[in-house]
Amino acid sequence: MRTRALLAGSFFCSFLLVPTGLGRWSVVRANEPPQVIAIGEKAPNTRSLRDLRGNSRALHDFEGRKALVIVFVGSECPISNLCLPELIALEKKLRGQSVQFLAVYPNEAEDLDQIAGHAYDRGTPFPVFKDIGQRLADALGITRVPSVVVLDGDFWLQYRGRVNDQYGAAARRPKATREDLALALDEMLAGKQVTVAETEADGCLIGRARNVKEAHEVTFNKNVATILQSRCQMCHRPEQAAPFSLLTYEDAVKHGHMMKEVTEQRRMPPWHADPRYGHFSNNRRLTNAEIETIAAWVDAGMPKGHDKDQPHPVAWAKGWIHGQPDAIFEMPDVFEVPATGVVPYKSWIIDPKFTEDKWVQIAECHPGATGVVHHVVVYILKEGQRGPISPDGMLSILVGWAPGDLGLVLPPGTALKVPKGSRFRLEMHYTPNGTAMKDRSSVGITFAKKPPRYELCQSEFANMAIAVAANDPHYTAQASFRLPADARLISLAPHMHWRGKDYFYEAIYPDGKKETLLSVPRWDFNWQSVYRFQEPVKLPKGTRLHSVAHWDNSANNLLNPAPEKTVYFGLQSWEEMMVGYVSFVWENPETAADLAKHPPKLADLMFDRLDVNGDGVITPDELPEQLKALAPLAGIKIPEKMTREEFEKLFDKMRKQFQQRRPEPKPDGAPEKKP
Ligand code: HEC
Repeated sequence: MRTRALLAGSFFCSFLLVPTGLGRWSVVRANEPPQVIAIGEKAPNTRSLRDLRGNSRALHDFEGRKALVIVFVGSECPISNLCLPELIALEKKLRGQSVQFLAVYPNEAEDLDQIAGHAYDRGTPFPVFKDIGQRLADALGITRVPSVVVLDGDFWLQYRGRVNDQYGAAARRPKATREDLALALDEMLAGKQVTVAETEADGCLIGRARNVKEAHEVTFNKNVATILQSRCQMCHRPEQAAPFSLLTYEDAVKHGHMMKEVTEQRRMPPWHADPRYGHFSNNRRLTNAEIETIAAWVDAGMPKGHDKDQPHPVAWAKGWIHGQPDAIFEMPDVFEVPATGVVPYKSWIIDPKFTEDKWVQIAECHPGATGVVHHVVVYILKEGQRGPISPDGMLSILVGWAPGDLGLVLPPGTALKVPKGSRFRLEMHYTPNGTAMKDRSSVGITFAKKPPRYELCQSEFANMAIAVAANDPHYTAQASFRLPADARLISLAPHMHWRGKDYFYEAIYPDGKKETLLSVPRWDFNWQSVYRFQEPVKLPKGTRLHSVAHWDNSANNLLNPAPEKTVYFGLQSWEEMMVGYVSFVWENPETAADLAKHPPKLADLMFDRLDVNGDGVITPDELPEQLKALAPLAGIKIPEKMTREEFEKLFDKMRKQFQQRRPEPKPDGAPEKKP
């Protein structure tokens, strides 16, 4: 049996031998790890875990639980994937009993992007880590995935082995004959000794690094400089967001080892879209070859190479990421940002004095004091309009800024109209950092050379009814948005706060077909990005954009300021948001005028907002509590399912009921009594 299992195990491993990730990885036979703890011994405080944002996490951070269940998994191991649903169900069942599950990915070739995508696909609700160099797996004596290890609150090893005996390399049973993990946990929680403390895990051998010395010569001038130019210098040069410059050979040598680490871990360049979906013109993701080149150069001692190989330096515009703008508008005053405290959002009005309609091709904010400017949004206030939202529900935003790049960069033939007489409102969010600073931010605009074929439309679709429950590690919410005419999608920009975990967008076409547009499986609050489609995506009339997001409101989320609080929609970072910004153009030039002439009915707009899962019917779980509370007051029973037409009727009925109850305003203008 043992031999069969081993043979079958190596069959599954041949999956992993296919060059999956970086060329220099491959699978080697499990070598016997040097110091493996035995049952009843204490697990060392290894520091090899990295979370999806790249933070290093020590095993002993997870102290004080009744049990700590470490689940070793692999994204491409069939048995591991078969076992995951059961582990997810078991975690859910035991969540209230101080049992902490951790998913750990030990395979060398799986990078943070692949791990995040896999955990997203499987809906893993507990913390997910990469085990760098397999140090935790080695310390705990784990050689295969899936394997589980159970530690008690003081990290003493209580159980090690398989989840159960349902799936083996060569055996699939309809049901397990023994639920080894669940039984071990039951016994532990009951304060008993675990009867079967060790079982044999059957699955895929862990893939490890190999040490192959590449024969070819890699130099800075020939191979590395161009990578830094095209991938790093947009931020890593003076006066940009990054903390140091990477313009010269000397700069690169100073930061070489760190460059190797952050690129291998895919923490730099910042880019959080799952590479399996969508093609983006501002894709910052490095290719595997680029990562290997940087690593090989560092490993070779960072040679400079021949001068003749040196590429020409890039002529970067001073201070502007997207080149010198045609016009620059500054905040009218300097704002003194205090050293400490909370600064409410600040607004400044700028009059650009446009005497004719202007077409914007590129716009970019330039924060004055980058250390304390958290974000900037520049709204367009059209003549006679006090806010940025037009009667047709469209948003007028010129451009935003946050670490990352929210600049407006439009494809040829598309531009954003700023009507004559418009003013800009700069909305500034400052986050004091301990030092008083002076800020005077500005915005730069490059105009289209001629009137464009397409006018840019902007909108957002939000879920403002979110209530991210206290301690919930995987709160879900959805939002959707319906296109009333044929359109082409230009860009998407998800927005959430500290507790945000992931954000996913799909198109639901009128025929019901679905297509993933963008998935951000490891949301990082520190990096807000606009995802600009390489080719605008054609969306026929009636297409719904549907988004799903998750939040981690548990104490395991390092950014979480207060896991014990349920948080609601709000603008400050400790509140939460689920807002999907979306830019598109109408396929037909006459659409905008048509929509202005026949604006959508309020009930229609409401329906589209409320139908958060985009399935064309509204169910009670999609209705906000306030509305559910109001219905009985109006003598209305909310049905289990409402189509658009049914909702419209109910909406009208409720409106009439409440209008009747409201007393007629008195002709002499005397104040009304509250109904
Ligand atoms: C979009 C802007 C941007 C791009 C592109 C970018 N960086 Fe960075 N980088 C930053 C910022 C901002 C920081 C500081 C992050 C922080 O303070 O947490 C940083 C930090 C770093 C660090 C220090 C990391 C640490 O944890 O201390 C390294 C090393 C680095 N970048 C390397 C690179 C390399 C190499 C590239 C290109 C392959 C690159 N970066 C591309 C913005 C960028």
